Order: sequence, then structure tokens, then C-alpha cells
Amino acid sequence: MSNRPARPRRSQLSVPGSSEKMLQKAAISKADHVFCDLEDAVAPSAKVEARGKIAWALNNLNWDKKVRCVRINDVTTEWCHDDIIEIVEKAGSNLDTIMLTKPYSAADVIFLDRMLNQLEKKHKLERRIGIEVLIEEVQALQNVEEISRCSDRLECLIFGMGDYSGSQGIDLKSIGEAGSYPGDIFHYARFRITMAARAAGLDAVDGPYANFKNEEGFRTEAVRARSLGMVGKWAIHPSQIDPALEVFSPTLEQVSRARKVSAAYKEAEAKGLGAVQVDGVMIDVAVLRIVGNTLAKADLYGL
Ligand code: COA
Ligand code: MG
Repeated sequence: MSNRPARPRRSQLSVPGSSEKMLQKAAISKADHVFCDLEDAVAPSAKVEARGKIAWALNNLNWDKKVRCVRINDVTTEWCHDDIIEIVEKAGSNLDTIMLTKPYSAADVIFLDRMLNQLEKKHKLERRIGIEVLIEEVQALQNVEEISRCSDRLECLIFGMGDYSGSQGIDLKSIGEAGSYPGDIFHYARFRITMAARAAGLDAVDGPYANFKNEEGFRTEAVRARSLGMVGKWAIHPSQIDPALEVFSPTLEQVSRARKVSAAYKEAEAKGLGAVQVDGVMIDVAVLRIVGNTLAKADLYGL
């Protein structure tokens, strides 16, 4: 299991790094994680300048307790290595993680890991920068187990269903909004990514939902992701932050039930019993594991 830092990722807000105004709005938002984007949300002609804007924002805005992440261009582009060098050089001590786009295999993630080793030494950074990885190529889904274990900087795997659908040839209504497939088109990928993430001790997070006026559709997708063990979902617009925070936080009722079940089990165990009932429902050690997930979330989110 990894010793990665526990960080909240219920709502990961995507903010175009080319927009000073949106960077400022992101800093004061309620999202618990913000990623400043250098990739798809930034036009090729604006990418170089966006690095400086992001570094300025990381160094000068008040991000409160938010996880601060920068999403970089993939290793096949002319921007990737300069994204890493410039962001870490200018803002490495005000950065928690870097998000890598479109890796095909572990080698692509290891490239970023090695770059960070060198840059952290060069700039004498005291805190290690973590890595988050987008699974958004068919090859990446095939290699997800290998990817999930290739660096001890890894913290999170994200299902990027927009690019993934392009990579596989899946038909979507809009990014994150399924077309006419008679089932949940994202089930297999979410299940597989979440399994790999949990096995490696990482967070699994669900990607974007482009139709930001459709809150009900967003919530449906978020609940599906949560049900499989994912801990959060992206927001591409501020209106998607509150629904994600709500869906991915246990309710106070769930937390108090988890505490009650856990206390009842400990009491039973002290009496030499393996299974007991709480309000007519059987509780055993497996149930304790399930409510343990709720209790861990309550601790992390301060509920
Ligand atoms: N982060 C921070 N602020 C944002 C934001 C974001 N992702 N998206 C919108 N806002 C701000 C807008 O600047 C606007 O601010 P204002 O009220 O002070 O003018 C406010 O929220 C409301 O925005 P709205 O007018 O509804 O939308 P818009 O036309 O300004 O922006 C998008 C719509 C889709 C262009 C914008 O949400 C966006 O760029 N999203 C991120 C896209 C992205 O990151 N894609 C890559 C990952 S999939
Ligand atoms: Mg993309």
C-alpha cells in the first residue's frame, strides 16, 4: 500500500490556466481540489503564457486548504517537459500535485516521476510533489494496474471519459453524458480503474460532465461513480461543485449510524461474539470494513 497523503478530492475543479479571472474564482471557490489546466482548456497559442499565470496564481492567491494541482500536456507534445520544469521552478513549493494527461503506459508516468526527482533536488524543495494520472486512452485502461503501481508519488487515478471515448470510438451525447447504449457505458472503465486504484492505495476520481446546466444528469453520474468506490468527480463549471461535495460526503445520518455500528461491534467483540444485530440488521467484521470507509471520509472531511 502507498503512504500517500490523504487529501480531499470530492470536487476537483478544472480551471483554464490562461484565465486570470477564472484562476481567482477557483481560489475562492468551495472545491476541495483545484487543477490549473495547461492542456485541453488552453489553446496552443496561449500555453506558454499560461504557465506564468498559473505560477503567479499559485504563489500569490489564497487557496486556503485546497489541494493545488497543475494539469500538464502529455509526453508526446512539445510542451510537456517545459510545463514540468517551469511550473516546479516557479511554484514548486506552492504546489501539491501534478496531473499527467494521456499516458499510454507506466513509462510515461515514470518520465514525470524522474523529472520531479531532479527538480526537487535542484530547487531544494522540502515537500514531495504528488502525481495524479488521467486514464483516457484505451492503452492506459489496458495498462491500468501497471500504471497504478509505477511511482510512489502516485495519489490518484482519474477516468477521463471525454478523451477515452475518442480513443475507443464511443459515441457520446456530450462529454460525460452517455448516448444510446442500453446500459451504463462507463461502468467497465470506472470499475476497472477503481479496482486498480484501491489495490494500489490510490484515490479514484470520475472525470468531466460537460452539460453543466444539467445538474440531475451530473448527480446521476456522480452517484454511479461513488457507488463503485470513487471519491470525487470533476467540476468544469462552479455550478458543479456543490452537487459533487454533497454526493461524495457521507450524510450526518450515515456517519452517526457508522459510529453506532462500530461501537456495537466493539462491544460484541469484547464479549467474544463475532456477529450481532443493530436495529434488526446483522453486523459482522465485513460490515465494520464498509462503515470504516464512511468513518475515514468523516475524518478527512471534518464531519
Ligand atoms: N473555474 C473558475 N471559474 C469559472 C469556471 C471554472 N472552470 N467556469 C466558469 N467560471 C466563472 C466564469 O468566469 C463566470 O464568472 P463571472 O460570473 O464573474 O463572469 C462564472 O463562473 C459563470 O460562468 P458562465 O458565464 O456560466 O460560463 P462561461 O461562459 O464564463 O464559461 C466554460 C463556460 C465552459 C467556458 C467554462 O466553464 C470553462 O472554461 N470551464 C472549464 C473547461 C475546462 O477546464 N476544460 C478542460 C477539462 S474537461
Ligand atoms: Mg482531454
